[in-house]
Amino acid sequence: MTTFSKDFIWGAATSGPQTEGNFHKQHQNVFDYWFETEPTAFDNGVGPDTASDFYHDYEADLALMSQAGIKALRTSIQWTRLIDDFETASLNADGVAYYNHVIDAMIANHITPYINLHHFDLPVELYDRYGGWTSKHVVELFVKFAEQCFKLFGDRVDNWFTFNEPKVVVDGQYLYGWHYPQIVDGPKAVQVAYNMNLASAKVIAKFRECCPQSEKRIGIILNLTPAYPATADPADVAAADFAEAWSNEMYLQPAVLGHFPAKLVATLTADGVLWDATSEELTLIAENTVDYLGVNYYQPLRVQRPDISPKSLQPWMPDIYFKEYQMPGRIMNVDRGWEIYPEAMTDIANNMRENYGNIPWFISENGMGVAGEERFMDADGVVQDDYRIDFMKDHLQALKRGIDAGSNCIGYFVWTAIDCWSWNHAYHNRYGLIRDDIHTQEKTLKKSAAWFKQLSESNSFED
Ligand code: BG6
Repeated sequence: MTTFSKDFIWGAATSGPQTEGNFHKQHQNVFDYWFETEPTAFDNGVGPDTASDFYHDYEADLALMSQAGIKALRTSIQWTRLIDDFETASLNADGVAYYNHVIDAMIANHITPYINLHHFDLPVELYDRYGGWTSKHVVELFVKFAEQCFKLFGDRVDNWFTFNEPKVVVDGQYLYGWHYPQIVDGPKAVQVAYNMNLASAKVIAKFRECCPQSEKRIGIILNLTPAYPATADPADVAAADFAEAWSNEMYLQPAVLGHFPAKLVATLTADGVLWDATSEELTLIAENTVDYLGVNYYQPLRVQRPDISPKSLQPWMPDIYFKEYQMPGRIMNVDRGWEIYPEAMTDIANNMRENYGNIPWFISENGMGVAGEERFMDADGVVQDDYRIDFMKDHLQALKRGIDAGSNCIGYFVWTAIDCWSWNHAYHNRYGLIRDDIHTQEKTLKKSAAWFKQLSESNSFED
């Protein structure tokens, strides 16, 4: 039997752009625009326009989540839905009414709202006008949007986040070209990473002004991918050290400790690509660290030395310092192409305890995406997703080992409640405890929903 404390939070995570659908939305985010201009970039040509129709179905969807034992829901407010004019942060009446209804409905269903302010969904106009997150003016506009959210919803929402996975914005939108605007530019990506850290600190400063009550807290959600060297050879170990600093510490340290990793700063400085920062900004980052941290964990990073000499790649890319490698014999989620390595949960928990002042933190996403789940449906139409239950069990057991060693982990949020639209992969991989038939929007509990309910009611499960 694996048992968690009575006050452990059992939740689910999702996001506005992946669930709501674009009904009554005045503005496009970068994904909406990308879908309109290049639908073939998305699995099966399916875009975010309908998603799982949370815009219309939120009441029924929340009731179903409650039946699945979900006691807290992390979702996001879309900048493109709430705001009419980004420069002044004037409000869109329909957007305000919609998010008010959603938050009220969460509370009515005994689901605690955890509200995130950015889930990859930059308004495309702000990219066209200013270059998106490369611009410090966009940082200021984001703070204005955040202030509106705190003023509108801060009376009912205690738990806030500035960003989901800034690393995915940096890598996807500015470094490796996976996501629109598909820029491939190392130095620009360095500046974006800094600007997002700065934006997070500025939003936290604004939050302290708007929501000073002690029960209100704000954090950031980071996707941590612990970096493990391929061998004990010093060249592989050095590559893993750089990858750890670049992928994880570049976001973790400013958020929790208020400063950037010194070795990484030294390397970027020596390479002539360090971000543009002022001393006032660095002080602001130092003074506005998070109250708690959300950690999304899916896969580790296996690293080996790069096979190019550091100075041979021009223009600069971080790949001159490390190379990802596929460990022989690793266990894979073949559909998603990600390694399954639950043990990293213990390593993350220990890292929080040893290096981050044992800050309160929780798993803000963890889950298993599987394609073609119809093949696992029984005669009653219930998806028998034992693989998902096993995945959660393995990860929770590893997490519990870290908690038993003293890590201050306060909850576990599964990705996700209801199958949702997922960026380029659209509906290819399903992650939900609840199935969504995207043609009829019929939603049905999977076997894992019953398991999760039992878990959240008893705080324990049979091993
Ligand atoms: C996380 C994101 O990185 O992974 C989610 O915060 C995303 O938005 C999830 O959906 C699963 O990844 P994917 O690409 O399989 O949807």
